Amino acid sequence: MCGIVGYVGKEKAKTRIIDGLKRLEYRGYDSAGIALATGEGIEVRKRVGGIEKLEEIITDAGFDGEMGIGHTRWATHGAPSDINAHPHLNEKGDIAVVHNGIIENYLELREWLADEKNITFRSETDSEVIAHLIGACYEGDIYEAVRKATKKMRGAYAICVMAAAEPDKLIAVRKDAPLVVGCGDGCNFVASDIPALLPYTKEVYLLENNETVVLTPDDVCIYDDGGNRVTRDVFHVTWDVDAAEKEGYEHFMLKEIHEQPKGLWETLTRRLDENGDIKLDGISMTGEDIRNFDKIYIVACGTAYHAGLVGKYIIEKYAGITVEVDIASEFRYRYPLVDERTLFIAISQSGETTDTLEALREAKRKGARVLSVVNVVGSSVARESDDVFYTWAGPEIAVASTKAYTTQLMCMYLLGLYMGKQTGVLEEKKYREIIEELKTIPDMLTEILEKENDIKGIARRFYRREKVFFIGRGTDSAVSYEGSLKLKEISYINSFAIAAGELKHGTIALVEPGVLFIAMCTQDRLYEKMVSNVQEIIARSGEIFAVAKEGGEEIKKHADNTFYIPRCSDDVAPILSVVPLQLFAYYVSVMRGNDADKPRNLAKSVTVE
Ligand code: M6R
Repeated sequence: MCGIVGYVGKEKAKTRIIDGLKRLEYRGYDSAGIALATGEGIEVRKRVGGIEKLEEIITDAGFDGEMGIGHTRWATHGAPSDINAHPHLNEKGDIAVVHNGIIENYLELREWLADEKNITFRSETDSEVIAHLIGACYEGDIYEAVRKATKKMRGAYAICVMAAAEPDKLIAVRKDAPLVVGCGDGCNFVASDIPALLPYTKEVYLLENNETVVLTPDDVCIYDDGGNRVTRDVFHVTWDVDAAEKEGYEHFMLKEIHEQPKGLWETLTRRLDENGDIKLDGISMTGEDIRNFDKIYIVACGTAYHAGLVGKYIIEKYAGITVEVDIASEFRYRYPLVDERTLFIAISQSGETTDTLEALREAKRKGARVLSVVNVVGSSVARESDDVFYTWAGPEIAVASTKAYTTQLMCMYLLGLYMGKQTGVLEEKKYREIIEELKTIPDMLTEILEKENDIKGIARRFYRREKVFFIGRGTDSAVSYEGSLKLKEISYINSFAIAAGELKHGTIALVEPGVLFIAMCTQDRLYEKMVSNVQEIIARSGEIFAVAKEGGEEIKKHADNTFYIPRCSDDVAPILSVVPLQLFAYYVSVMRGNDADKPRNLAKSVTVE
C-alpha cells in the first residue's frame, strides 16, 4: 500500500523523488521520508504526515545528492510516527531501505538480529528488519547483500535499497508488490506505480515477481530469482502526465467522476467492430469454451465487488449461466467448487489487490479459466490471467473509486452480451438494442453531471446526518452497496446498505427522525414496491432522498428530495444511477471538511491481506 520511489542519475535527486512521491500519495499518506546519498554518506529525513510535512524539513540546499530513495507510508506495523516512517537504516547508518508490503517472519528475524548481531531496533516496523538484515549480509557488494537477505525474508515486498559506499547504484526487488523501472536519459528510476515517473519518462520496464533490478545512471540490469540476467522489452506508456494531474478540479475524485463519459466511451468502442458487434480481440476464450462453462465466479473487493454484483444480474440474465459473486478475502478461505468448467472473473482497478490476486491463484490451481477485468495494464492480476478485459478508465488516483466502477460495469454488459450471443440465450434483437443503448450512456451521464448543483444542494441539506441507509431492489440493491461504501469511506458517516425487501425483517427497527434513507427507485418493474417501502419509512419519520428515472412522478410526492436520471432500460440504469451517489458522497465529504481524495485509514491499492 505504501509508495516508493528511487532515483539515480546526474541531476539533483531530491526534487525528482518528492515529485514522484506526490504522485504516489494515494497509496498511503500517514508519513513520508527520503534518504539521499549526499557525498558524505546517507542522510535521512522523515516525518509523520503527508509529503507537505516532509517538504518543510528538507528545504536546505545542502541536503541533496544524485541518488536517493523516498517513501510514503500506510502503516501496518507500528503507528504513524517519525520513527516508524521510512527510509530505515542499518545499525551503521550506511544502508537505507524503503519497503512496501509485509515481512511475515519479521519477529523471527528481529530476534535473530538482536541475539546474534547485537542489533538495537529503533522502530516498531517490520521494514527496519530488512535494513539490518541487508547490513548483516553486506560485504562490499550491495546487490549480493540484497540477494542474500531476501532469501531469508518471507512475505510480500517491494524494496529499494542504497549503500553509502556505492553511491551510483540502486537495488530494487519485487515480490508480490508492484514495482516499475523508468528509463531516463542519463538517469533511471524505480517506483511503485507509473504516475510517479510520468514527468520524466514514459519508457518503463514492468518487473516480474521475484526479480531484482540494479540501476545505475546509464544502465538497468534485471535478474531473476536465480541471479540470471533477464531481457525485458520496454513498455511505452500511452497516457500523458495530465491524466495523473487534477487539471483545475479541487480533487482527483471530482475530476474522475467527470471523466466517466470518456472512459465509458473508450471502454465500449474499443470492443465494437465496424458492424457494431462485440469483439473480444486478444481474448482467447472461444464460443465453445463459454458454452462449456457450468459456473462463473466473479471475485473482487470493495467497489470492484459491487461491480460484480451487477455483473451477476447481467450475465445470468443474458447468458443463462449461474454466477456466484464473492468477496476475494472470503473466497480464498472457503471451499469453492471450482474445476475446469469454471470461469473465474477477477475484477480489479489496480490489478494489485492481494486478496483478489490470491483468490485468482487459488482458482487457477483448481483448474478454472481466469478472465480479469482490470484497469492497470501490466498489473499482476492482468499478467496472471488467461485473458484480460481492460477497462479504459485511465489512471484513477482518488482512493474512492468512481470511473473504474462504471467502466467495470460497462465490461460486465459487454461480457454478458457476448456470452449471451454464444449461449444463444439472448435474442439478436435484444443484443442489438442493448448495444445501441450502451452507446447513449456517455451522453446520458453527461446530462447527470450537468445537474451536479442539484446534488450539491441535496448534500447541503443532509451532510450533518450521522446515520444513512441505502435501499434498492434488483440491480438497485447492488448500486446501494456501492453508494453506501462511497459515502462512508470519504465522509465517515455510519452508512449501511440493504435490499429494500429485507428492511421489514429487522432493520426497519432503526428508522427514527434524523435517519436518512437514500432510496434507489430506477427499476421500472420494482418501482411500485419501492414506493411502498419509502412510505413505510416515512410513516416512521425517516427522511428520504430518492433517485428515480425521469417520469417517476409518484416517488416525488413522498420523498424529501428526488434526483432524476434520464429514462433508460432497467438493465443499464446502474451505470447512471451510481453517479448522483458518487457526487453526493463527494460533496458531503467536502462539506464535512474532509480530504475526499485521501480519506483516513485508507489507501488506494490494498496489497496486504
Ligand atoms: O484495485 P481494486 O479494484 O482491486 O481495489 C478494490 C478495493 O480496494 C477498492 O475498490 C476500494 O473498495 C475503494 N476504496 C472503493 O472506493
